[in-house]
Amino acid sequence: MIKIQIPATSANVGAGFDALGLAIDHYNYVEMEESDSINITSLDDVQVPTDENNLIYISAKDLFDVCGKKLNGLTIRQTNNIPMARGMGSSSACIVAGLVGANRLLGKPLTTDDIVDLAAQIEGHPDNTAPALLGGIVTAVFDGKKVHWVKQEVYTKLKFVTIIPDFELKTEKARACLPKEVTHKDAVYNLSRAALFSASLLTGKFENLRTAVHDKLHQPYRMPLIPNAREIFDIAYNHGAYGAYISGAGPTIIAIVDEKNEYFAGKMRFSLGNAGLSGWQVQEHHIDNTGTQIIENN
Ligand code: HSE
Repeated sequence: MIKIQIPATSANVGAGFDALGLAIDHYNYVEMEESDSINITSLDDVQVPTDENNLIYISAKDLFDVCGKKLNGLTIRQTNNIPMARGMGSSSACIVAGLVGANRLLGKPLTTDDIVDLAAQIEGHPDNTAPALLGGIVTAVFDGKKVHWVKQEVYTKLKFVTIIPDFELKTEKARACLPKEVTHKDAVYNLSRAALFSASLLTGKFENLRTAVHDKLHQPYRMPLIPNAREIFDIAYNHGAYGAYISGAGPTIIAIVDEKNEYFAGKMRFSLGNAGLSGWQVQEHHIDNTGTQIIENN
């Protein structure tokens, strides 16, 4: 049995729609071994498909198919700490777990590049799958077949504070509300900010982050799908966040906060409670620079 640890991820980070994503130190765990049938168990109270529609199984089978191998079945035990349909990369974690696990079971026939490509093909965009696999902040261009990527490790004194609501928002719905076309001006608005985000994060110019997280490609269209989002941004900025953005397709909001801002999470919880928004959970996290790891192999 192998045991895999997969980080949560935050895609887009504001302006880098479908292009930037980072890994966060909050993890799913998947135990896996080959079997003659499909035996899938959730080790927590999260309901998951226990048949061939399970995303970990589908992804593992895809890798077997690519390698020309037959998969009769798998035993999978999954611990689902990453909340589902919240913009924290829960689907990508399943995809990456299935691919990394299957690759190990077959004796590692595929390279890291192959797995980055395959994961993006399954998910449709690379900005969650690539950081889930690689860790750090990943800049990625998916040309439809191949992902051209750079992973950068991030050692900053920053916290990534997740503010997670008690409701789900499916990515399909959050993508369906986006416009088919944007103006040249809006394209420039975003590409300049996406570039500014990585450069500022990596050089410690954190005062730029508030400008860098603004965007005109997705957040304005998704805000109406996330009740009270505007208020939560305001509260986060009032408590000193460098930047706040919708994580991935939402509805989670992430505030980027200086490590020295010691009581940020407590202040957020208190203010959210006062505003009648206590359904939002506040958790402090940091960037995970390692990505997916096999932590046991018995
Ligand atoms: N870039 C994607 C989106 C991430 O914003 O729709 C969610 O999968």
